[in-house]
Amino acid sequence: MNLDASSPVLGYQSGFGNEFSSEALPGALPVGQNSPQKAPYGLYAELLSGTAFTMVRSESRRTWMYRIQPSANHPAFVKLERQLAGGPLGPVTPNRLRWNPLPIPVEATDFIDGLVGMVANSGAEKPSGISIYHYRANTSMQRVFFNADGELLVVPEQGRLRICTELGRLDLEPLEIAVIPRGLKFRVELLDPQARGYVAENHGAPLRLPDLGPIGSNGLANPRDFLAPVAHYEDDQSRTTLVQKFLGELWGCELDHSPLNVVAWHGNNVPYKYDLRRFNTLGTVSFDHPDPSIFTVLTSPTSVPGLANLDFVIFPPRWMVAENTFRPPWFHRNLMNEFMGLIQGSYDAKAEGFLPGGASLHSCMSAHGPDGETCTKAITAELQPSKIDNTMAFMFETSQVLRPSRFALECAQLQSNYDACWASLPATFTPNRR
Ligand SMILES: [Fe+2]
Repeated sequence: MNLDASSPVLGYQSGFGNEFSSEALPGALPVGQNSPQKAPYGLYAELLSGTAFTMVRSESRRTWMYRIQPSANHPAFVKLERQLAGGPLGPVTPNRLRWNPLPIPVEATDFIDGLVGMVANSGAEKPSGISIYHYRANTSMQRVFFNADGELLVVPEQGRLRICTELGRLDLEPLEIAVIPRGLKFRVELLDPQARGYVAENHGAPLRLPDLGPIGSNGLANPRDFLAPVAHYEDDQSRTTLVQKFLGELWGCELDHSPLNVVAWHGNNVPYKYDLRRFNTLGTVSFDHPDPSIFTVLTSPTSVPGLANLDFVIFPPRWMVAENTFRPPWFHRNLMNEFMGLIQGSYDAKAEGFLPGGASLHSCMSAHGPDGETCTKAITAELQPSKIDNTMAFMFETSQVLRPSRFALECAQLQSNYDACWASLPATFTPNRR
């Protein structure tokens, strides 16, 4: 959904990592300084830091907000009785795992109650690692939430969402993604009766665009296609529950106002959305495949150059033209750990069993690749240029091994026969015929 940028409530500012600024009332944004003695309209100035103050300038993320009440105006948080579903982590397994889509609950479930932890490779107290959730919801949040444990990458598979944040609103539909910075308050409203999708929680360095190297200055996800919101505030004194996730636990308190009360702001620590259909997909025009890193949309680096804490990688519709080439993804065993999901259609490495809303986990050094049926077709196909259409698979790829939650290992959606999809690989070795 591309909304009219001139809309007073749902405008967007385009770019990635920019020093954005926005004001919902004229002159609300102080000029020339961040914290004047008296901010315009009697607003309070407040800084949200997404990185340590002393980060190098290119890494620094922070936003100044001018708000009706400062965030500090809240009573003590109390640990909620209802905690996130899915935890704790279960036993380690080196096995390849695949899940059918989780059903959307019948009882009223908002975005937070509908989160279910699937895999994680870090306690939330560590400054690296990721946690991966499914979300299922049938009710708009009546409360406001923030996550002290990391930024959130939201990947809808079903149902449109309106994410109302402190910095403004993002409307999101399947085939779009959104990133919400650590600590930013938001409320998820449903624009359709039901919603389902995936969330990667990034405990490490904030996501950014990957370097392009010899690709040059264009290609993959282009910066101008990333959209940040414009300021929109709620001057609302009704009672509002504010929930935070802190070291994996949900805590709540009651406010006498809406905390989405930022009238103006400037900074580069912002929520944003991106339409995956705008990804400029690159690939071979001769033979063989480039590594799938050519499909990276966003990356969270570690301190080791080239080793990602989280790569968000997509497999969009694309032309296959490689000559004399086994065209599905090759058989492989990787250092990196791969959690895959499917937003629509089917994935070209699997004939069946991998459904939209489902997921698979291939951990460090686990062997995988196309299933038997796909492999047989690929070896015998008459190779012509062909288009893979109606598909959007993605991968959350990470350098540390992901441990499934107890829920993920015990739920009815875990497929018991996933290994069997490789059991039908044909025996094609003929020593007497090259
Ligand atoms: Fe893989």
